[in-house]
Amino acid sequence: MSQRQLTFHIFRYKPETPKQDPSMQTYVLPEEPGMTLFIALNQIREEQDPSLQFDFVCRAGICGSCGMLINGKPTLACRTLTKSLPAEITLMPLPLYQLLGDLSVDTGSWFRDVSLRTEAWIHTEKRFDPAAEEERMSNDTALNIYEAERCIECGCCIGGCATANIKPDFIGAAGVNRVARFMLDPRDERDEQEYFDVVGSEDGIFGCIGLMACDDNCPIGIPLQGQLAYVRRKMAVAGWKR
Ligand code: FES
Repeated sequence: MSQRQLTFHIFRYKPETPKQDPSMQTYVLPEEPGMTLFIALNQIREEQDPSLQFDFVCRAGICGSCGMLINGKPTLACRTLTKSLPAEITLMPLPLYQLLGDLSVDTGSWFRDVSLRTEAWIHTEKRFDPAAEEERMSNDTALNIYEAERCIECGCCIGGCATANIKPDFIGAAGVNRVARFMLDPRDERDEQEYFDVVGSEDGIFGCIGLMACDDNCPIGIPLQGQLAYVRRKMAVAGWKR
């Protein structure tokens, strides 16, 4: 099979040089066997344009730093093989997050803000005793918590969510998944009314209109609609009891 020439159309804009308008820049690259977008972007930066800005850390779908819109779909660039794409590839930064430059966005500030707003830590009256034995929990509970903990905070679920794109304060599936993680944890002593104060609003669980893009776009397959349904059920009951 003859080697393909890949044509990349890449969003360019540096907020620190606002005089330069946002634009799309085109690069052409011969495709290599096993080429991922991580390899392609590094090759473009090394051989054609050292000013191109994008993020990668782990190259293995673990750190969550390489989320971007690849032909319109939010996903991880390091795990995307060029052979799974047409020869024309458009790369845009994830929407909604603060743009740092070109394809690089600041997801960290967004996730930190949502963590604070959802109070994403164990709430307990117990004093910490370093000599105490570990508390036991059932395997099923541990596995359910682990499922929610698998989130790598890449931001793809939020970038692809229509509600989050029009409501900047919506905590989205990633935020709800984090709430679910603590609701599931028997060490967290919050009752449902206390959770309702945190997430029982239009910017929380009742903002989701069920378009399911989060579930479609999560690159590591967390069942986000299941987590949303779990939290929504609990919060609907809590709201009804008020
Ligand atoms: S570089 Fe870490 S997830 Fe892609």
